Amino acid sequence: MQSFKELVAQFSQQFDQQHFPEEPCQLYNAATHILGIGGKRIRPVLCLMGNELFDTLHPDAFQVGNAVELFHNFTLVHDDIMDKAPLRRGKPTVHTVYGDPAAILAGDVMLINVYDRLNKVQPRYKQKIISVFNKAAIEVCEGQQLDMDFEAMEPEEVQYDSYVNMIGLKTSVLLAASLQLGAIIGGAGEGNQEHIYQFGKNIGIAFQIQDDYLDAFGDPEKFGKQQGGDILVNKKTFLLLKAFELCNPAERAALKTLMETSPDDKVDRVLDLFHSCKVDAWAEKEKERFQELAFRRLEDIAVLSKRKMPLMELADYLLNRQQ
Ligand code: IPE
Ligand code: IPE
Ligand code: MG
Ligand code: MG
Ligand code: MG
Repeated sequence: MQSFKELVAQFSQQFDQQHFPEEPCQLYNAATHILGIGGKRIRPVLCLMGNELFDTLHPDAFQVGNAVELFHNFTLVHDDIMDKAPLRRGKPTVHTVYGDPAAILAGDVMLINVYDRLNKVQPRYKQKIISVFNKAAIEVCEGQQLDMDFEAMEPEEVQYDSYVNMIGLKTSVLLAASLQLGAIIGGAGEGNQEHIYQFGKNIGIAFQIQDDYLDAFGDPEKFGKQQGGDILVNKKTFLLLKAFELCNPAERAALKTLMETSPDDKVDRVLDLFHSCKVDAWAEKEKERFQELAFRRLEDIAVLSKRKMPLMELADYLLNRQQ
């Protein structure tokens, strides 16, 4: 069993190479830009770990890991257009450098490339791999649409459960599917596949809670995104929803005015309100709640406990990360 660090190194060795032709350069430079500026490579490692939990590493797990990482990068390029984000991984976003048309097309090309990779896996599980992947990919689009719908809604109109459902779709299902895809390659049965999927789903929810927390309170140098980006576009993150629930009427009115008028110091003033309602402390408890749910599903997987250690360590890292 290998650690996150060892698997990232193995994955990157074969992933960090030229994926695209040179011309037209505006298109392929845009695609190469996002792949060349780093990223934690969590999803392919989850795929490798899912495989290694049940069997020795198979080359198909790298193939599917490549596909999943390309898909993830495609979603980031389009997400940054939707979220009007200037920074990603500490660098200017693809659309700010190459323009929206090239960024949209670069995302499209990456997505098509994904299917080239998936098509190359062994015939005995190819159909299953593609159907698990497609289900997750459609759900990501559904989650992204809900995220956009919520942006335009009043905070009182978005229930906390709807937020959890939305982040489950836009973020968790890909982490969950990455694990399941690896498990399929490792020969896991349906029951174990379902347990590892649910482990990933719950870890993914806690992972997005941490992402929303870092967007507001993280160190932008480490996190690599614009601080308060979610606040600027009135994202219905748990921070905002919970603040509305916990604050007093005067604070609620102040928050509403800030959202409607977007003054220059909006981010600082919203952060002050978040602090005074203690929604930052609340994030910790919520992450622990989902981590516990996840670990219960990990226990249910019928393999020796010591084989599960790398996944437990990775979960801890993901939920306490600063980047
Ligand atoms: C960012 O994912 C998008 C979310 C789902 C929050 P990561 O935090 O895994 O992004 P990279 O690939 O490491 O940059
Ligand atoms: C993104 O959620 C989920 C997907 C890209 C599908 P966010 O919008 O919070 O991700 P970041 O913060 O931009 O990485
Ligand atoms: Mg987004
Ligand atoms: Mg975003
Ligand atoms: Mg975010």
